Amino acid sequence: MSSTEITSDKELTLYERIGGAVAVDTAVEVFYRKVLADYRINRFFDGIDMEKQVAKQKAFFTLAFGGPNTYTGTDLRNAHTRLVKMGLGNDHFNAVMEHLSATLKELNVPKDLITEVETLAESTRKDVLSR
Ligand code: HEM
Repeated sequence: MSSTEITSDKELTLYERIGGAVAVDTAVEVFYRKVLADYRINRFFDGIDMEKQVAKQKAFFTLAFGGPNTYTGTDLRNAHTRLVKMGLGNDHFNAVMEHLSATLKELNVPKDLITEVETLAESTRKDVLSR
């Protein structure tokens, strides 16, 4: 499904409405490019195998948007404990949220869908930051 076919039909999952696998794949790739270019947060990604990371994130976002479940990673709290020990906090989380919103906007995802994704991502803050 191309991004021009996105509808706001509430019968469809967020995954389908956003444009399915192609849209998720593109979004994750654009998103990581922004994250890795951001001096405020890129130190957290030092030594991380980004190919594996991108694949995990695609599976995770697909699942989170209500698409097919191919995510085999660990839970968000455990995945980020090491980073919290490195100083990961609200400002870093906000920077990631910024890149997520900018990515979806750049890909012409409709505003109401961006809001849904933002709400979903925001709901993980406590787990990601071990609060
Ligand atoms: C919307 C909030 C976030 C979500 C949904 C998210 C999701 C994920 C997922 C699914 C993984 C893979 C877990 C696994 O290994 O199985 C992961 C790992 C990781 N995340 Fe996040 N994350 C979020 C916020 C952040 C933030 C704010 C940072 C840093 C600025 C960050 C940096 C990382 C790093 C470096 C890893 C790899 C950790 C490692 O392999 O040791 N994440 N994240």
